[in-house]
Formats: sequence, structure tokens, C-alpha cells
Amino acid sequence: MDKSIEEKIKKLKKEKNAIILAHYYQVPEIQDIADYVGDSYALAKYAKSTEADIIILAGVKFMAETAKVLNPTKRVFIPDMNAGCSLVDAAPVEEFKNWINIFHNPFVVTYINSSIEIKMLSDVIVTSSNAVKIVSKIPEDKTILFAPDKNLGNYVMQKTNRNMQIWDGHCYVHDQLIAEQIINLKKQYVDAPVIAHPECQPTILAISDFIGSTSALLDYVKNTNFDKYIIATETGILHQMKKIKPDAKFIIVPANETCSCNDCMFMKLNTLEKIYDNLLLENNEILLTDEQINKAKIPIMRMMEMAEN
Ligand code: 13P
Ligand code: SF4
Repeated sequence: MDKSIEEKIKKLKKEKNAIILAHYYQVPEIQDIADYVGDSYALAKYAKSTEADIIILAGVKFMAETAKVLNPTKRVFIPDMNAGCSLVDAAPVEEFKNWINIFHNPFVVTYINSSIEIKMLSDVIVTSSNAVKIVSKIPEDKTILFAPDKNLGNYVMQKTNRNMQIWDGHCYVHDQLIAEQIINLKKQYVDAPVIAHPECQPTILAISDFIGSTSALLDYVKNTNFDKYIIATETGILHQMKKIKPDAKFIIVPANETCSCNDCMFMKLNTLEKIYDNLLLENNEILLTDEQINKAKIPIMRMMEMAEN
């Protein structure tokens, strides 16, 4: 009998000393075959310390690039090279350079959802799990620029009470969710807490009971005892939530069973077949120049120092 794709992947993974790191927005079958599933910060940390020869980053391209920067002697592959991110597209390099040049000696804080070129121009990188902590540590006399996600930027500004200049970018998945959808759901599910990713609009965050990165949202579900949760983020997260609480009901906003409106089209490009091809053909390798690695590593490592201490 023919081997299943999962068995073939496992065999090749072992032969080539490879690991699969998957983001929570991947389809369930990819999450289930991964050696590690995490949010963007946890994936970066895992990639930095792995001793595997090959890293398959089942997520989007900026995540694979970050893995390469942090562990450049390893070969990093992505299942689909077109797995981009609307936040990366929102900050073209030349426009970004011009923006920075408007300010005198600014401190540039950049979300990890950004291109390698933008990272090279930044002072520190942040993720949704550590942005508040990192921004609150920046010296008071600095002019802070925050890019490219305006919703995360406004949330961080509110939490830290720091004034920041914010780039006008957004995630197309989170930004399309609207508060009215949640208000309507709350009428139906009165006792269900609303939990949201900080890439959502301020009007959603204002009516949320908990705001956090994908891992933080999962921890919230783990550590609370509700039987229903209203979730404002990408659908992939439901797979782990259902594993944690199989009997709970997870209502994903906009709660329309017939549309896949909050499936990230970039994350969902990845498939088991493409992962198998990565392992077999060694295609879709992330290749960065020494200059890109050396320059982008500085703000990424600064993130790690500031987030961990
Ligand atoms: P996390 O940092 O929460 O994993 O978010 C990454 C992302 O792309 C959210 O849309
Ligand atoms: Fe980018 Fe949004 Fe997709 Fe996350 S969900 S990868 S921020 S487009």
C-alpha cells in the first residue's frame, strides 16, 4: 500500500535532519505534522536554537526570513514563496526611507511582519507578544516611529502612554472585522468573553475582554473556564483551541460559516504536498545576503534582549 503524505514527510524529515515549524494560522494537517507550532516570536526563538540542518517554516515569508537571519548556517525553506503578508506590502522600502528621514534621529520600532529591507532600517523589531514591553523600555527623550501596523501601533501607544508616529498599514484579515459583528454576537452569547488579536481595529479592541498574540489568546482559553468564546482573529487558531477545550464553543468573528473571510490567503497557500516537495526537491529556499543577515540581525537580537530581560 502507498505511504500517506504524512508518512513520506516524516521519513524524509528524519533522513535529512529537518524540522517543520508551523504558525497557528496553518491548516490543521500542517499543525499536526509540525515539530513545533507557535506564534511569530516563539517560532523565531525556536529557529534560533535548533540544531536541525533544515528548517521548513510553514508560515509566511517574513517568518522564514527571520529564521534564516537568526540561524544562518541552517537551510531554511518555505512551502510557497508567494506566502507574503499585507503588512509587508504596506511598507515599500523607498517610502519607508523617506518617512524615517522626516524625523531627527528617530527610534524606529518595526513589527516583525515586515520585509528584510525594512528590518535593516530599524532599531528594534517587535511582535504582538512583546511590543508593549519593548516600547515601554525606550528612553523617554526618543521620537518613536512605529511601522507598519497602525492598529497594533495605536494599541501599543495606548498601553504604554508613549507618543508614537505610526505608519498607515494594516493586516487585511484583521482589519476587515468590525465591532458591530461582535456587538451582535454578544447579544446571542451574552456570557462569552471576546478575545482579539491586536491587529484588529481599535473599536474591536475597545470591546474585547482580552487582547493578545496568537499564543496569548490560546493561553487565555487554557486558563479560563468559559464554555463559549468569541474570537476575533484568523481561523487557524481554532485548531489548537479545540484541542485545549474540546467541549467549548468557539465563535469566530464574523461567524459566517459560508465565507472564509478570515482565512489568511497567504498562510493558506501552504499544503502538505508543498512541504513534501520542500523536503524532496529542496525548492523554495530562503537565500539572504550576508549584508541582509548582518544588518537585520541587529534589531531582531535587540528585540530578544529587550523582550527577555
Ligand atoms: P502572532 O505574532 O500573534 O503570531 O501574529 C502574526 C500574524 O501574522 C498575525 O496576523
Ligand atoms: Fe499578514 Fe494578516 Fe496574514 Fe498575519 S494574517 S500573515 S498579518 S496578512
